[in-house]
Amino acid sequence: MKIEYKITRKQQAFINAKEDEVLYGGAAGGGKSYGQIIDAFLKALKYPGIKQIIFRNSYPELNRSIILTAQAILPKELYAYSSVSHKMSFVNGSLLEFGYLSSDSDVSNYQSAEYDIIRFDELTHFTEYQYKYMRSRLRGANKFPKQIKSSTNPGGRGHAWVKEMFITPKAPGKSFERDGTSFLFIPAKVSENKFLMKNDPGYVKRLESLPFHEKKALLLGDWDIFDGQFFPELKNIPEHYEDRIGTHIIAPFIPPSEWTIYRSFDFGYARPFSVAWWAVDYDGRLYRIMELYGCARDSLGAVMANTGVKWTPEKIFARVSETEKSHPWLKGKDIFGVADPSIWDKSRGTSVADVAESFGVYFEKGDNNRLPGWMQLHYRLQFDEEGIPMMYIFSNCEGFIRTMPSLVFSKNNPEDLDTEGEDHIADEVRYMCMHRPIAPTVGAVAEVATFDPLSDDRKIGQYNFFMKKYK
Ligand SMILES: Nc1ncnc2c1ncn2[C@@H]1O[C@H](COP(=O)(O)OP(=O)(O)OP(=O)(O)O)[C@@H](O)[C@H]1O
Ligand SMILES: [Mg+2]
Repeated sequence: MKIEYKITRKQQAFINAKEDEVLYGGAAGGGKSYGQIIDAFLKALKYPGIKQIIFRNSYPELNRSIILTAQAILPKELYAYSSVSHKMSFVNGSLLEFGYLSSDSDVSNYQSAEYDIIRFDELTHFTEYQYKYMRSRLRGANKFPKQIKSSTNPGGRGHAWVKEMFITPKAPGKSFERDGTSFLFIPAKVSENKFLMKNDPGYVKRLESLPFHEKKALLLGDWDIFDGQFFPELKNIPEHYEDRIGTHIIAPFIPPSEWTIYRSFDFGYARPFSVAWWAVDYDGRLYRIMELYGCARDSLGAVMANTGVKWTPEKIFARVSETEKSHPWLKGKDIFGVADPSIWDKSRGTSVADVAESFGVYFEKGDNNRLPGWMQLHYRLQFDEEGIPMMYIFSNCEGFIRTMPSLVFSKNNPEDLDTEGEDHIADEVRYMCMHRPIAPTVGAVAEVATFDPLSDDRKIGQYNFFMKKYK
C-alpha cells in the first residue's frame, strides 16, 4: 500500500524535529493542525506499539477539528476508531488517543497514564500547569522517542507562558536547552501553506480585513504585537528604581509614618490566597508595599503557578496578625482592611471574616463589581504627562509582578479577564482600587486595551461599547 502526502517545508521540519519539546506556532492556517495529524500518523506507522495523545481544550473542539480531519486524511484500512474512548488503534498496535483538558483538575484523568508522544493543538489555550503536569506522563519502558509536540496561534490565556518557554529564549528555528531538556520553536506563516492558498485564495483577504492586532497575530503569526494581555500597561515594564518615571515597579522604601495603610485580601485554599499591604501618599497614590501570596512551591522551591498552599483561615490570619504586630512598616499603625465579600459567607458555619476578627484582623466588604473594578485598575496604571502612575508596586511584591502581566481576556466575556488564569492578586487589587476610586488621569499616555483578541467581530463591537461607556 502506498500513501502519499504532500507537506510544506515547515510541516517537514515539525515532523523531523528531534528536540524533547517542539512548538509549531504562528499564523492561522499555516498547516499546524494538519502537520500534527500527519506527524502522529507517521510516528504510529514507524514505531509499532507507540502511544500518543493529542489534546485540545474541549471535546467539541477536538471533534470539530482534529478528529474529523484525522478521519478524513488517514487511510481507513489502517486503524479502528472508537468514538466512545476517542482512540485510534492502528493495525500495528500503535495507539493515538484524543483528549481534552479544560480545567486544571482535568489532568487528574491522566494520573496513571503513560505516553511516548504528547501533542497539544492550540497550546496557548492551555495553562502552564496542564502542560507541566502532562510532562510527567511522558514515559514508557521502550525505545520509542519521548516528545511533547505542540502547535498554536499566538494569543489566548496561555500566550505569556508559551512565549516565555519557547519563543523568548532563542531565535525561531534554533534549538536550545534548558535544564537538560531541548526545545525548538518552528514559526508558521500562512503564505507557506500553498494548499490553502490554492484552495481558498480569499482566506488571506479575510485575515487582512481583521483589526490591526488580530491581523498581525493571525496573518503574520506575530507574538509581540498581539498577546491578549488584560493589562497591556504592564507589558515590558522596566524597573526604574531611581526616577520612577514610566514604570510601576519601584525599589522598596520605608513608607512615611503619616501615610495611611490598607490591607486587601482575597481568600483561597486549593488556589492561592492573597494579602497585600498598601500605603497611600498625600496625592492618593497607592504603593503596594508588601504581599503575602499563598502560592505553593515545589520541592526545589520553584513557584507552582496557581496552586494554593492550602492554609486554613486560622493559619492565614495568625500570620497576618503577627506580621502587622512585628513588621517595622506596620507595627502600631491603624490598618484598614478590604476583602472579597464572599468571606462573610456563613453557609458552612463560621465565616472566614469571623476567623479574621478572632485574630483582630478586620475588613470592610469589598465592592465586587468586576468591570468598574478593572477600569479603576486601568486608571491607576495610567501614566500622567510626566510618566507617573497612580499605583506603584514595590519590587519585593513578586506575586504581583509574576501574575498580573500574564492575565488575558476571557474567551466568553470580552469585557472581563479569563478567570481560569492566576487572577487572585488581580481580584485583591481590584477590591483595593474600588475602595478608593479615582477619576481617569487627564492627558494619560498609557494605552488601555481596546480589543478582545479572542473574540469574533460581534464581541469586539460589545467591547468597544464597553470602552466608550467607561471612558
Ligand atoms: N500538507 C497539506 N496538504 C493538504 N492540505 C493541507 C496541508 N497542510 C494544511 N492543509 C490544509 O490547509 C488548511 C489549514 O491547515 P491547518 O488547519 O492545519 O492550519 P492551522 O495552522 O492549524 O490553522 P489554525 O491556526 O486555524 O488552527 C486546512 O484546510 C488543511 O487541511
Ligand atoms: Mg489548527
